[in-house]
Amino acid sequence: MMTQTMRAIRVHHYGDPEVLQVERVPRPEPEKGELLIRVHAAGVLPMEYFIRKGHLPGILPKSFPYTPGTAFAGVIEKLGPDVTGWEVGQAICGRAPNGTYAEYTTVQAHPPALAPDTVGYRNTAGISPLALKPETLSFAEAATLSGGATTAWTALFEDGNLQAGQRALIHAAAGGVGLFATQFARWKGAQVIGTASTANLDFVSSLGAETVIDYTTTPLEEVAHDVDFVLDTVGGETLQRSLRVLKRGGTLVTVMEPAPVELAEQLGVHAIKNAVFPTSEHLQRIIQLIDEGHVKPTIRQIFSLDEAPLAHALCETGHGRGRIVLHIAD
Ligand SMILES: NC(=O)c1ccc[n+]([C@@H]2O[C@H](COP(=O)([O-])OP(=O)(O)OC[C@H]3O[C@@H](n4cnc5c(N)ncnc54)[C@H](OP(=O)(O)O)[C@@H]3O)[C@@H](O)[C@H]2O)c1
Repeated sequence: MMTQTMRAIRVHHYGDPEVLQVERVPRPEPEKGELLIRVHAAGVLPMEYFIRKGHLPGILPKSFPYTPGTAFAGVIEKLGPDVTGWEVGQAICGRAPNGTYAEYTTVQAHPPALAPDTVGYRNTAGISPLALKPETLSFAEAATLSGGATTAWTALFEDGNLQAGQRALIHAAAGGVGLFATQFARWKGAQVIGTASTANLDFVSSLGAETVIDYTTTPLEEVAHDVDFVLDTVGGETLQRSLRVLKRGGTLVTVMEPAPVELAEQLGVHAIKNAVFPTSEHLQRIIQLIDEGHVKPTIRQIFSLDEAPLAHALCETGHGRGRIVLHIAD
């Protein structure tokens, strides 16, 4: 039988965005318990350029060549042996750890739930929440949920315990994580203070933030105080200063770096590094909120697979609103 092939980005060594080159490679075959997915769109996550640059070698060891990407939306092309609960032709979305900057990828049909990552970083190899694609979303929009909505959800409601009536400070509220966190916090009934640069203030207000802080002009301490909850997606000085605007007993969840637990203790607050892995149940709950009209994704820009270097270069700027997406099939 002739081996079927597909187009995929293959990275042969760490480097600049130009190392993201399209090649023709064998199409994967689903093994026992796996789905073969025809990828229609892949979300471009900041983590993927850190990996491409070789900045996370101890956390995510990669053998070369590898295909980047995990967030996807696509259609089930084939079921591996012993797969139940899914059907060929279903449109699905979520995370597939074997590489999604490609026409096809494989994923476990029913990934096991993983215990929280107590090491303080995420070895993401085993995470693959999956769900039926919301009918109201395009493939490109659905590809923004994993690593954006799922991270926001677990940080707010699993690592943290954000409650109705609380005051929440959401950093980088225009970003791929923050735009969902802002909407989730509002849906929960929290009062949201969002941070963004001048160009994104109106956007963050439109997501439901009552207060927006222009981090390029206004120190956050001038506006935010007695906060119950902080989502930190910036790290560094922003994280340290955010601890000081929490009320006593308040909680900061960071997705960026080890939590400064000692400083938090001195200040009488909690600092937590996000550690709860998103599950398919989390993703399904998010999709329910989307279907009910409480939450909507935002795409920053769509690129073709061949344009993956441009997509990474844009992502590396660290600015802008919404998630960058690769369009792979109509
Ligand atoms: N640990 C995890 O599991 C996990 C998961 C997802 C993401 N992350 C990390 O979280 C970070 C954000 O991810 P993302 O997907 O949201 O990134 P993104 O989509 O690229 O968005 C970045 C956002 O940061 C904003 N920003 C930049 N500097 C800022 C500052 N000093 N204060 C406030 N906002 C600022 C930008 O807004 P302006 O254009 O307005 O500047 C932009 O909207 C990344 O570093 C990513 O690696 C970690």
